[in-house]
Amino acid sequence: KRLVVLVSGSGTNLQALLDAVAEAGPAAYGAEIVAVGADRDGIEGLARAERAGLPTFVCKVKDHAGRDDWDRALAEATAAYEPDLVVSAGFMKIVGKEFLARFGGRFVNTHPALLPSFPGAHGVRDALAYGARVTGCTVHFVDDGVDTGPIIAQGVVEVRDEDDESALHERIKEVERRLLVDVVGRLARNGYRIEGRKVVIQ
Ligand code: GRF
Repeated sequence: KRLVVLVSGSGTNLQALLDAVAEAGPAAYGAEIVAVGADRDGIEGLARAERAGLPTFVCKVKDHAGRDDWDRALAEATAAYEPDLVVSAGFMKIVGKEFLARFGGRFVNTHPALLPSFPGAHGVRDALAYGARVTGCTVHFVDDGVDTGPIIAQGVVEVRDEDDESALHERIKEVERRLLVDVVGRLARNGYRIEGRKVVIQ
């Protein structure tokens, strides 16, 4: 299976996927990353892709007349690599109708909280501020909402009294990277069905 991964930051989830494919080999893992896309340049995520010898593309909102034009450009840039699965690994933009029309049902996101709790761009900070005693991460299919698509898998992380946002986020990311590698591999190898809010991996 062909994967395109979308990033906006450090790309440690991307790196975990790169390492898993390199370690197992694309055939055994079930997929290979064919390109990495971003909404901004100059980020470590793109540097990781370049170090792995992968093609990259950048679609910046400000380079387009409007949001729909950006969404269409992102969809076209992604489609050029003919992905079977698209993975948002810290991609910090909400995609629109065009992108979902093309990749809905095969577009996976990872979120650093236990959805439906704490959706949006500050899930770690919100869980900490709320006083949650456990939080974690969620891998889900992207639908037309924000972090509202069918959940594939979740991982639980304890919140510690001494945690600040970055310490808690680092601990979540340790679980998140393993969860994402496991889920993407199983989706790619086994195939899956989405039945309402349920995801069945064969
Ligand atoms: C991840 O925790 C992801 O869930 C969140 O941002 C973080 C991205 O980390 N949206 P990285 O860029 O993969 O290191």
